[in-house]
Amino acid sequence: MRHLMNPLDFTVEELDSLFNLANDIEKNPAKYAHVCEGKKLATCFYEPSTRTRLSFESAMLSLGGQVLGFSDAGSSSASKGESVSDTIRVISCFADICAMRHPKEGAPMVAASKSSIPVINAGDGGHQHPTQTLTDLLTIRSLKGRLGNFTIGLCGDLKFGRTVHSLINALVRYPNIHFIFISPPELRVPDYITDMLQEKNIEYEEVIRLEDCISKLDLLYMTRVQRERFFNEEDYVRLKDFYILNKTKMELAKDDMLILHPLPRVNEISVEVDDDPRAVYFKQVQYGVYVRMALILTLLEIKC
Ligand code: CP
Repeated sequence: MRHLMNPLDFTVEELDSLFNLANDIEKNPAKYAHVCEGKKLATCFYEPSTRTRLSFESAMLSLGGQVLGFSDAGSSSASKGESVSDTIRVISCFADICAMRHPKEGAPMVAASKSSIPVINAGDGGHQHPTQTLTDLLTIRSLKGRLGNFTIGLCGDLKFGRTVHSLINALVRYPNIHFIFISPPELRVPDYITDMLQEKNIEYEEVIRLEDCISKLDLLYMTRVQRERFFNEEDYVRLKDFYILNKTKMELAKDDMLILHPLPRVNEISVEVDDDPRAVYFKQVQYGVYVRMALILTLLEIKC
């Protein structure tokens, strides 16, 4: 039995197969409409979510399966003190596969160690968000036609943004990727990531102003400042609008630069950019459903 805790749990070849399956699901949804009949997905979300939880549920329903779960720790027995280990043993009696989001780093890993069903990390604290990374990689591969040979700018809260950490870890396995980290000094990418890049001799730059590098980018990955991970509101208020991508800045970008964002957006991309054909963050959400469908099939070992 396999779980997904980290994008690196799958080899590059396994990811290729997963993305091929996701693209086939996109082209032939009817072929997959009943393949999970009789199977149940539990979504155990101890932290708020719109996309991840609902895209998992949409994915399972589109495969003909059923869903159950909770969207708030307060409405689960966690509020009475039940441990994650006990909860997953109980969920294992109710469902065939579980997607779990938790504010504590490593909690889904603890669950996986006690589980008799596959567990998917749907985001753990500021640590990892592997299914967002699968979504990001599938979006890039589908819309750019390749994973590798590009310059990617990651902009915003690179300190607390778990999607950024997961994506960098996943991208270093592909050839000739140049990273540009765009953040205020207080929100720079953690040292463990820059140390890892140095060890692997992978080129990166750190810059403060988006305008100084946007013209070089093939991909711009925008992120929101993660209010919920700040220790004080004053720092959040000072940094929250540090970056606002607008039409004027987009005039400096390449004609085929794609803008991705894991969402939710707050102010960091002006709504006037949404109609720009380079803005693909809502398409990215749709790719998230296809890749979660492919992931459910893969972890349940359902061959189609
Ligand atoms: N991208 C993402 O994780 O969104 P949600 O927090 O809404 O699930």
